[in-house]
Amino acid sequence: MKTIARDFASDPRVAEAKTVLLETLAEYQRGITGIRPPLDELRQSYGDMLKEFGEIRGAPLFFAYFGSGIGNGVFVELADGSVKYDFISGIGVHHFGHSRPELVAAGIDAALSNTVMQGNLQQNPESLELSEMLLDAANRKGAALKHCFLSTSGAMANENALKLIFQKKHPANRLLAFEGCFAGRTLALSHVTDKPAYREGLPQTLSVDYVPFFDRTRPQESTRLSVEHLKRHLARYPGKHAAMVFEMVLGEGGFYPGPAEFFRALMQILRDYGIAILIDEIQTFGRTTEIFAFQALGLDEFVDTVTLGKSAQVCATLFRADFNPRPGLLSQTFTASTSAIHAARVILRELTEGGYFGASGKIARLNEHFTTRLKEIEARNPGLIRGPFGTGAMIAFTPFGGNPEKVKRFVHKLFDAGVISFYAGPDLSRVRFLLPVGAVTIDDLDAVAGIVEKTLKAVGDSGTE
Ligand SMILES: Cc1ncc(COP(=O)(O)O)c(C=O)c1O
Repeated sequence: MKTIARDFASDPRVAEAKTVLLETLAEYQRGITGIRPPLDELRQSYGDMLKEFGEIRGAPLFFAYFGSGIGNGVFVELADGSVKYDFISGIGVHHFGHSRPELVAAGIDAALSNTVMQGNLQQNPESLELSEMLLDAANRKGAALKHCFLSTSGAMANENALKLIFQKKHPANRLLAFEGCFAGRTLALSHVTDKPAYREGLPQTLSVDYVPFFDRTRPQESTRLSVEHLKRHLARYPGKHAAMVFEMVLGEGGFYPGPAEFFRALMQILRDYGIAILIDEIQTFGRTTEIFAFQALGLDEFVDTVTLGKSAQVCATLFRADFNPRPGLLSQTFTASTSAIHAARVILRELTEGGYFGASGKIARLNEHFTTRLKEIEARNPGLIRGPFGTGAMIAFTPFGGNPEKVKRFVHKLFDAGVISFYAGPDLSRVRFLLPVGAVTIDDLDAVAGIVEKTLKAVGDSGTE
């Protein structure tokens, strides 16, 4: 006996309707083959819309970006009719590009499902399947994560991780984190995120002691210094630290990776002191040479809790059995939208089976190609840029000696020229790209590198104004 839902899902009319929709979409997507400027007749209304939205939300948007609702892989059409290379993917969300047929298909299935949202009291079986997939992916190289709790934002995933850690480690009430890290923007996390402007005027919610991140310009000394810092914090507040939050590649902080030995040196001390290790993979998930950066670094044995979000489409906290909190600590009305859960299953399958990881996987090849292009720009234009920096599908460079005003102007000019990037770093001195790995091709990288070089020269020539 099948459920009515299963009968409905396998009704040939549903399959036929889906085919018609996807074929029709594909037909329109074929019209999106490269970047193009806005349509003249839409400029005025688009400008008005941006202005009105800025007024409604209380601040203008960073980019003049309203998506039209269609794209073709790495290309996105905006509501002014322009088409751009999306090399920032909503800060790391659209990992498979725009209007990817498999994700649209998942969205249709979700739209035909009974509810828009899934929540703790009412979830469909896809939540179970997805949770198992996430745990399998996280444990495949030896981590021992037992539980998966879905949530609706990266910040909420981190909040949940911190809650279960604090409960287990009570009365320890301090945290450790890296200088320059980003962990989210809730009241609690704004005290982990190492950016004073993000907590201006907010009451102190957490006590955090910072450890310098890895400095690639002096590797040996850097590890020793960070270990010393850590030990000093531990000595100053004996027994008071519940956890250290590890951002494996500083993301908002400017795309700084660190080597395994650096993390291992710190993690071993934390282990010895019984301090929990929370690995924040919200930005790194699916972007290094393994699905989790801790796997690429061989740190599986140290993982107590790990959080993910962004490219997965859902956010989650994965944790070891001994961190399972007492009833009442974790609960949410929403765990994710039905479409996010359906899409996440497709993405997990694609990521785990699609040849993205490993030393010669697609991510490594994209990184090699794009960083080579950026190095060529540097060689052709001495002093114009420094870098490239980052790792995997997280690539950055520093133009104009890191002058933040010029960097910001460059990012906007690049947008106008048809490529969406963003800035990053403690002083916003770096330009960063989060490559949509599921959609981008080598030809796209070459085309974007060409636009980057041309725009760099144009902004460089225009002085500082
Ligand atoms: C490392 C890291 N942690 C946490 C977050 C917060 O995620 P969200 O914006 O989904 O709350 C982000 C978002 O940029 C992030 O990069």
